[in-house]
Amino acid sequence: MLEFPQKGDGRGQLVIVEGGVDIPFDIKRIFYIYGSDSEVVRGQHANKRTEFVLINVSGQSKVRVKDGRGNEAIFALNRPHTGIYLPKMVWKDMYDFSEGSVLLCLASEHYDTEEYIRDYDKFVELISGGQG
Ligand code: TYD
Repeated sequence: MLEFPQKGDGRGQLVIVEGGVDIPFDIKRIFYIYGSDSEVVRGQHANKRTEFVLINVSGQSKVRVKDGRGNEAIFALNRPHTGIYLPKMVWKDMYDFSEGSVLLCLASEHYDTEEYIRDYDKFVELISGGQG
């Protein structure tokens, strides 16, 4: 988990996220997810090259991360000044979105559908050294 600097005063909070400073890559792409609910599961993929930082800037959600070797961890994204860093080649599921959730995703690469791995068995095979 990453904790971002914030400047608060009588007017409210301002959270600062600088590429290469507060997160470990230069930001090439942002996208955000809203209008999801507690029933849906998003993500369900790994990325060959892209690293991400996820920040629930409003509301909350959870992300389940798997390394393809049998380890998994669940992180609650529930504060606008914290985020989770996801390196390349981890499987991720985002779920349990609260009402009003806005999940901001910062990415190290431009979108390239070819670098998304959407088959979990193929992901495990690649992790364990197979050719996929
Ligand atoms: P998808 O990967 O299914 O989203 P999630 O990981 O949240 O489940 O993406 C939904 C659609 O948006 C799909 O058609 C691909 C497209 N898309 C882009 O065109 N550019 C992007 O940067 C992203 C993340 C998705």
